[in-house]
Amino acid sequence: MPGATHYRDVACGLIDASWAGKTVRLAGWVHRRRDQGGVKFILLRDRTGLVQLAFEPERTPAEVIAAAAKLTPEDVLSIRGEVEARPAGAVNPEMATGEIEIRVREMDVLASSDPLPILVAVPPGEDLPSEELRLRHRVLDLRRSELQQHFVVRHLATNAARASLSQQGFLEVETPFLTRRTPEGARDYLVPSRIHHGEFYALPQSPQLYKQLLMVAGFDRYFQVARCLRDEDLRADRQPEFTQIDVEMAFVAEDDIFAACERMLVDMFSTTLDRSIPVPFPRMTWAEATESYGTDKPDLRIDWRIQDFSGVLGGRGFGILDAAIAAGGRARGIVVPGGASLSRSRLDALNDTARAEGAKGALWMKCTEDGFTGPAARAVDEEAGPILRSDFGLTAGDLLVLVAGPDSESSPSLDVLRRQLSAELGAVSEGEEWVWVTDFPLFEADPETGAPAASHHPFTMPVDVTPEALLADPLSVRSRAYDLVLNGTELASGSIRCHEPALQRAILEVLGMTPEQVDARFGFLLEAFRYGVPPHGGFALGLDRLVALMVNAPSLRDVIAFPKTTAARGLMEGAPSGVDEELLADLGIRLAGKQAGTDD
Ligand code: AMO
Repeated sequence: MPGATHYRDVACGLIDASWAGKTVRLAGWVHRRRDQGGVKFILLRDRTGLVQLAFEPERTPAEVIAAAAKLTPEDVLSIRGEVEARPAGAVNPEMATGEIEIRVREMDVLASSDPLPILVAVPPGEDLPSEELRLRHRVLDLRRSELQQHFVVRHLATNAARASLSQQGFLEVETPFLTRRTPEGARDYLVPSRIHHGEFYALPQSPQLYKQLLMVAGFDRYFQVARCLRDEDLRADRQPEFTQIDVEMAFVAEDDIFAACERMLVDMFSTTLDRSIPVPFPRMTWAEATESYGTDKPDLRIDWRIQDFSGVLGGRGFGILDAAIAAGGRARGIVVPGGASLSRSRLDALNDTARAEGAKGALWMKCTEDGFTGPAARAVDEEAGPILRSDFGLTAGDLLVLVAGPDSESSPSLDVLRRQLSAELGAVSEGEEWVWVTDFPLFEADPETGAPAASHHPFTMPVDVTPEALLADPLSVRSRAYDLVLNGTELASGSIRCHEPALQRAILEVLGMTPEQVDARFGFLLEAFRYGVPPHGGFALGLDRLVALMVNAPSLRDVIAFPKTTAARGLMEGAPSGVDEELLADLGIRLAGKQAGTDD
């Protein structure tokens, strides 16, 4: 932060011993006040840090001392004083400016603060107020240096992405906010048209179709730091408004896109955190990820893999396993090294976790020097025991956790069990594990209706299939979609796009649209494809998620200046709010079963 302005010569945190002996003007907030033997000390704060002001009777005018006695936290001051090197014993190594302090001569209170609803200067080791209270008073919470640092990182990371992509020949282009629906899997936020009553714009869930059209328009390489809006159930890693680094490239295959993304990430990490990251990232197919890790977002910091125990434990007279296998399922499980040390009650609770993820339950057995114990040990006979040790690597002290049933039940359960138990047993390695997950299926069956739903989005290129074959058996089709996963978090997602109009139509029809609906909703895309469409593809990286990982923040709310709660409310500004009847009338809207509100 450049220091000198109308109110100050330098920012608070940037003063060091080289200023000693000089007179300086500073401005900032009262962070903390301390009175000690007739001398008053104030820590003055701005974004760059803290500096200690000293008010002492011998050197500071009496009226300034009197005014200082009335100061309360978060008052805004400007002062003039001398910078003095602190005596050796008084140097504070914890503070960047700890070698000096300012002997105040003049002071102006630029603004005083009311008593604070939440503290900014939270003493070290003390709990923060509740998040709800902090979100209500977001402006004060944002003054905490920890949160301010998140935004420094966010700014540096965004800048580095822009610089890297620009250097790689990408053009930043803005795309509309008032648009028509682009299916990305969430609900749209709709904006009623005042001029065309009964018609609505949709706010973009992503710039997906516009960026593809820019490729048809010959832009070759596009990017945008794009705000996306999705009306979906919120979690710690989901906000209704979030930001993507959105990228599209023409005349490319996966290798080109991965290389561009990796280079951008290398630049972002080196500029922002001065860290190198290991590129190229490894790749894993979706089939391998779901088979070995039970998820398309494998956390590869955990060594354990899911294995299929149907062959070794099935048909040995243990009814639960045999019935699940006879019904077409499998007995899959994880060997948990050292897991035999877990308590009986902990092991019994594995069942609840598996049930919460949709399985019928979880079985377990411990491996000891002498044999196997626990509920699942009934499936271990003289033949199975040695195989478990030789082929599956079970040794004394290990635990085997099994989930029997269809993969659709065992995969999510084993994924959660794997992550929970590895965290409890300290089996998550330090550092970062990146992986590209590739070859997703084009569609997934909706768990409730069984109808095909796009697993990435409907504009993804299918692999080796004709429109007819795709319509005949959509669920068997693979796609050229990929995700970038870091430590089990999906950071980015993308695909090579379907640029063949007939295939694109078939995909949209599988999703339940009639040819007329396809024309009405996506005619503009299909028409553009008729005039020479280059093969193209791209990705979007969740900037909020990446920054949260960079700063180790548990929630995206910690890296978004004015976030929403999980109930999609802005607590500070009070959004959403009612609107006056007149405004609604202008828009041609009458509320069903509810009075119009006011925005007061
Ligand atoms: P997708 O929907 O997978 O793909 O989004 C890409 C990345 O955006 C981030 N993300 C979110 N971050 C915060 N809150 C949310 N609600 C949220 N939803 C998604 C994730 C995710 O990996 N148009 C395609 C990209 C493409 O095909 O090029 C798209 O938006 O990090």
